[in-house]
Amino acid sequence: MSATGIFSGSVLIHPGSGLKGEMTVPGDKSISHRSVFFGSIAEGTTEVTGFLEGEDNLSTISAFSLMGVDITRNADRVTIHGKGLTGLSEPADIINAGNSGTTTRLLVGLLSSLPFFSVITGDASLRGRPMKRVVSPLLKMGASIAGRKEASLLPLAITGKKLKGMRFESPIASAQLKSAILLAGLNAEGETTVIEPEKSRDHTERMLKLFGADLSVSGNAVSVRSTKTLTGCKIEVPGDISSAAFFLVGAALAQGSDLLIKNVGVNPTRVGIIDILKKMGGSIEVRGAREASGEPVADLLVKSSSLKGADISGRELLPAIDEFPIICVAAAFAEGTTTIAGAGELRVKESDRIAVISECLSAIGVRNEERPDGIVIEGTRGKPVKGGTIRSHGDHRIAMSMAMAALNSIDGIQIEGASSVDVSFPGFFRALGKVTIA
Ligand code: S3P
Repeated sequence: MSATGIFSGSVLIHPGSGLKGEMTVPGDKSISHRSVFFGSIAEGTTEVTGFLEGEDNLSTISAFSLMGVDITRNADRVTIHGKGLTGLSEPADIINAGNSGTTTRLLVGLLSSLPFFSVITGDASLRGRPMKRVVSPLLKMGASIAGRKEASLLPLAITGKKLKGMRFESPIASAQLKSAILLAGLNAEGETTVIEPEKSRDHTERMLKLFGADLSVSGNAVSVRSTKTLTGCKIEVPGDISSAAFFLVGAALAQGSDLLIKNVGVNPTRVGIIDILKKMGGSIEVRGAREASGEPVADLLVKSSSLKGADISGRELLPAIDEFPIICVAAAFAEGTTTIAGAGELRVKESDRIAVISECLSAIGVRNEERPDGIVIEGTRGKPVKGGTIRSHGDHRIAMSMAMAALNSIDGIQIEGASSVDVSFPGFFRALGKVTIA
């Protein structure tokens, strides 16, 4: 494989063969965000290694810097001089969360409970994403939030209040929503409990415990009690399995692959991509399991595999929620039909990922049918597609997924909006070039 035009917004990915060798992927996006959130509201210093230098995480750093937190960054090492739970100062300007839903929703929760006024906005994609899911339960806790369309869209203006703890039965499994309510609960009166229909990623729970929060977990319920002090600590961020996922699928699909991805987070709430690929016949080995900063970590060995189509339910997809586009690419080259259902949430991610991946697959010659809550994809049985031009719609995970599809194309794929990869995986195209057999 080679890529042309890496530094422009449009990149042509040429066809390639297998992926070989050893690699690492940048730090986990969710864990990196949380290290800055909790480090900023803790007492003392938090030292983070392996921090993801993606645009989304830099948005979180900017937000807390604007609230007076001293944060220094040297590549992937970040030092946060925490201000304590109530030590943040009123931001003198609007907080711009860029493309980052996690920055926004977690901040709305935290800021609702702090004694000052703040306004949050973001880019065009983020300004179209639903905020009501976070705002409604916070209003029940006593929050004061105003915004467009009855506070369901950014910009949101928050006047901090003394909140009351509550028992919240969440209608959706969402880690951003759960985390927003728990962050509000840290400063609220009494106990705050979030009960999810299914367990979403649990990085907040794991990291809050490391920082000393009074938190307990029972099944799908998480409770936090008003906490006086969080204490800064050392956080080692593992590689992001959502970034590794592109290489897992790329290697499984291409002939002659033998790729070891080292130091990847394998939290049970995030390993859906491994389970789904195995169900499709993928050869993936989890090696050297260990723990770092309360999170399971391992190396992943992936080899060329003959993938078969599968039926994938919403429940199976939840621990692979961000991997929907790359799972669709795996399905595109599998033998037989893949049906993904129960994936309605994908319509409100960085793009409408069901519509956008359907458009991209059609553009390169893969037959598929978009459904309201999923997609049906006819696999090519490993045969390369012709290729063509696709638009990422500014969605980083669409751009990276289609780069992997290009390896199995005849003419290559021109990706428009390729610089969106910087949101979660700066250096993605260089990393791909390094492990591709010429
Ligand atoms: C995230 C939670 C998920 C995920 C997002 C990151 C997090 O979103 O899609 O990329 O860090 O909490 P939802 O909570 O909306 O499912």
